[in-house]
Amino acid sequence: QQPTPLSPTGAPSADPPTASAQQGAYLTTATGVRIGDSDHSLKAGPRGPTLLSDHHLREKIMHFDHERIPERVVHARGAGAHGVFRSNGAASKVSRAAVFADGEETRVFVRFSTVLGSRGSADTVRDTRGFATKFYTREGNWDLVGNNIPVFFIQDGIKFPDVIHAGKPHPDREIPQAQSAHDTFWDFVSLHTEAQHHAIWNMSDRGIPRSYRMMEGFGVHTFRLVDAEGGTTLVKFHWKPRLGVHSLTWEEAQLAGGVDPDFHRRDLYDAIESGAFPEWDLGIQAFPDTPDQMFEGIDLLDATKLVPEELAPVQVIGTLTLNGNPTNFFAETEQVAFHTGHLVPGIDGTDDPLLAARNFSYLDTQLTRLAGPNFNQIPINRPHAPVNDNHRDGYHQHAVHGGVAPYKPNTLDAGCPFFAGAEEGAFVDVPVEVQGSKVRENPASYDDHFSQARLFWKSMSPVEQQHIVHAYTFELGKCYEQAVKERQLLALANIDAGLCSQVARGLGLPAPERSVQYDEPEPSPALSQVGGTWPTD
Ligand code: HEM
Repeated sequence: QQPTPLSPTGAPSADPPTASAQQGAYLTTATGVRIGDSDHSLKAGPRGPTLLSDHHLREKIMHFDHERIPERVVHARGAGAHGVFRSNGAASKVSRAAVFADGEETRVFVRFSTVLGSRGSADTVRDTRGFATKFYTREGNWDLVGNNIPVFFIQDGIKFPDVIHAGKPHPDREIPQAQSAHDTFWDFVSLHTEAQHHAIWNMSDRGIPRSYRMMEGFGVHTFRLVDAEGGTTLVKFHWKPRLGVHSLTWEEAQLAGGVDPDFHRRDLYDAIESGAFPEWDLGIQAFPDTPDQMFEGIDLLDATKLVPEELAPVQVIGTLTLNGNPTNFFAETEQVAFHTGHLVPGIDGTDDPLLAARNFSYLDTQLTRLAGPNFNQIPINRPHAPVNDNHRDGYHQHAVHGGVAPYKPNTLDAGCPFFAGAEEGAFVDVPVEVQGSKVRENPASYDDHFSQARLFWKSMSPVEQQHIVHAYTFELGKCYEQAVKERQLLALANIDAGLCSQVARGLGLPAPERSVQYDEPEPSPALSQVGGTWPTD
């Protein structure tokens, strides 16, 4: 389960990592000097002043004082596990990535999380859940940084700070958290109505999962797979839990959260510890890579839209088994650094503007969170493939680089004067044609903000609809501002008149008329399969 250690040259070595000390027969200082007494500071007599010359005291306190690193700006609360991904070979037809070769086994680290709460917040809150997977493939690391909801709040990553500011605690009171930063959250989603689809998933039972082991995961964005001949296919990734999808009721969530705020973290740890290893099938929805990147009228670059599974079935390409708990929460779960730009040959991104912003954001935030540019040398982040990157120096540099010429090609260091053969097995950027004027605009296909939220509402069973009505009524009932409630009711009217009138009744407000017209997709029984099996199945 342990990551590959770093050799002095920066390349992973084959040796297992040295178990970190702290269990030896005697204590030492950080520089290896044996300590006889770690319980008494050095004083001028038993009742006298403590002496500045006590280096052990100063070192011990100094290190303790700096134990905390900044928590993640989002997804701060999480739980991780080690595991293995076994490919069934189905995706090797559309991708040359080694991770998809038939029978290939790849070690992984997965981190589940809530989005808005701080590191010490409760697991059971109504929120989106993160589902991030680092695949240590033999061609380098591939990170699939997804959520348990298949769509996102916004279409363009430039709004990410705004939607998160709206959901985080109010700047003056520092209350409340999760989806219930009420006035600001509902102010945002009622003004930026593209967020209504994600919000209705949050208000459904999907917002309060029973267990991390019983959640789906979604890559959300459309990715591009590249086969051995350079042919491309657009795909969306889905994780399907073998245990099925299950949720808590609101009342259960309140009780569980009160009795045990670590409910999900404990559940994951205990299941793995007892040998009940959770499993997920990884699947893809595949679409032709057409120039317009549309499928059945759905813009594949719009992260607020999903593609119903009845239009593009999910094809299973492998199975994930989580079979190892972290040895050390800080070293693994806290220091793991996922990145949407961590791609391997055969898996590429698309021009989804949300994805573009993420590709900037994760590197940028980790530079601060993990103090400097060398966080890929932290054991949990090290690839299980050779590293030869020509990066030098920087905070927390652990490699002792040799050679005099950290550039290629060069004629000074032995071994690699030219790039001979480098292209074999290399990541190749897909030569996608790009044209257009530089504008700050969305395509017209991004304008429909309600039809898929309506599709979701219509696909719910009556009891699930009741849960959604209660959730909206409770959450909106916490708003102080009448105008915010009224604007959100208007958004609900644009989703469904019945939904709107029930919530309005609960709030004691009049139900507004629908103000937006759009083409309504025909609901069908199969649409209850959007996103997989439901709690009531
Ligand atoms: C963290 C998912 C959009 C910025 C995370 C994590 C997940 C995630 C799962 C936690 C990773 C972990 O466990 O360490 C998603 C999904 C998105 C999305 C599925 C949309 C499809 C965005 C956008 C931005 C962003 C648009 C910024 C423009 C961040 C940042 C972190 C984070 C800064 C903290 C990373 C760290 O400290 O290591 N996201 N996110 N995310 N996300 Fe996103």
